[in-house]
Amino acid sequence: MSSAKLLDKHGRTLTYLRISLTDRCNLRCTYCTPQHNFTYLHPREILTYEELLRTCRLLADMGLKKVRCTGGEPLVRQGIVPFLEQLGEIQGIEEVCLTTNGVLLEDYAQGLWDAGVRHINVSLDTLRSERFKSITGRDCFHKVWAGIMALLDLGFDKVKINSVVARGMNEDEIADIASLAKQYPIEVRFIEFMPVGHNRWGQQLVMEVAEMQAIVENALGALNPVPSEKNAGPAKLFDFKGARGKVGFISPLSQHFCNSCNRIRLTSDGRLRLCLFSDLEYDLKGVIRSGATDQALSHFFMQAIQKKPENYNKGTEAGSPSCTRAMGTIGG
Ligand code: GTP
Ligand code: 5AD
Ligand code: SF4
Repeated sequence: MSSAKLLDKHGRTLTYLRISLTDRCNLRCTYCTPQHNFTYLHPREILTYEELLRTCRLLADMGLKKVRCTGGEPLVRQGIVPFLEQLGEIQGIEEVCLTTNGVLLEDYAQGLWDAGVRHINVSLDTLRSERFKSITGRDCFHKVWAGIMALLDLGFDKVKINSVVARGMNEDEIADIASLAKQYPIEVRFIEFMPVGHNRWGQQLVMEVAEMQAIVENALGALNPVPSEKNAGPAKLFDFKGARGKVGFISPLSQHFCNSCNRIRLTSDGRLRLCLFSDLEYDLKGVIRSGATDQALSHFFMQAIQKKPENYNKGTEAGSPSCTRAMGTIGG
């Protein structure tokens, strides 16, 4: 029986779960990859699909509505398509979504459609092939582009592009990337560069959303706010004259959005993480593998959710929000 129990102490209803399906990735984006050497998790450290499905069934009984699978790169995990299909069959889950780097998307698009997935966000920070290689370490721009076009050809309802903007990396392409929303029914979102998991972050690399937005308005004309969709993430959305799609901005640094947060996360090593910017986590895998009953697991979720921080931790460089875990194990 579904009843809205996923209510935290600060009045927020947590309807949206993000799962990092694997810490592995087939790219090495400069803004994501840790600066120090890192090793991948052993496969047994990762929650099995059965463990994940059980978790999602229990959470759906408590009011979960939306699941987004991320990584690392989720499409490198074997068996993902049948898993997504089974997720979509869980009563109460209204939407199963994916955030991918797009490298394998062209091959997977039809399978994802057949599995019932309709909402896919693709990371793409540049439209220049050479620059793509220097940001990600691999010469795959054309593969990613072909993947996005495959989604549009198949008729996916929600195709979104995520562009992390960093000074000196791609800020000169904001207008070009935004223009994709003129040409295609795509939601193009610009994201402030966040300090996550010992990445190569620095305050001087951050461009705030206000500046990005001015560049987009200069190129495309006035931006008109539009409401977010049901169970949406943190993007503020706009349309503009002649748009086929939308433009969105995600401002974790300049305008934090904690008061409307509807999200919880599962890390690739099986921890329930309550906030991207708080290292407070609960060991779901340990509880599951200790043989917990469904009732005990539901109790575990209820207890953990009460600990969701009201706001992110301050106290790092320039007082910015931060997170010490590598992005690949959380998935954004
Ligand atoms: P929709 O479901 O389409 O609304 O997508 P989404 O924006 O929730 O998911 P996506 O994986 O595309 O994430 C886009 C960006 O938003 C990534 O850079 C995420 O790290 C960031 N993001 C999502 N949720 C949060 C959050 O709670 N806090 C912070 N700081 N960033 C977030
Ligand atoms: N800051 C902002 N967004 C990031 N992403 C990865 N690392 C960062 C960062 N340091 C984005 C990716 C992907 C999403 C899950 O998170 O581009 O689209
Ligand atoms: Fe890039 Fe995403 Fe892979 Fe990180 S996880 S290296 S952002 S593609």
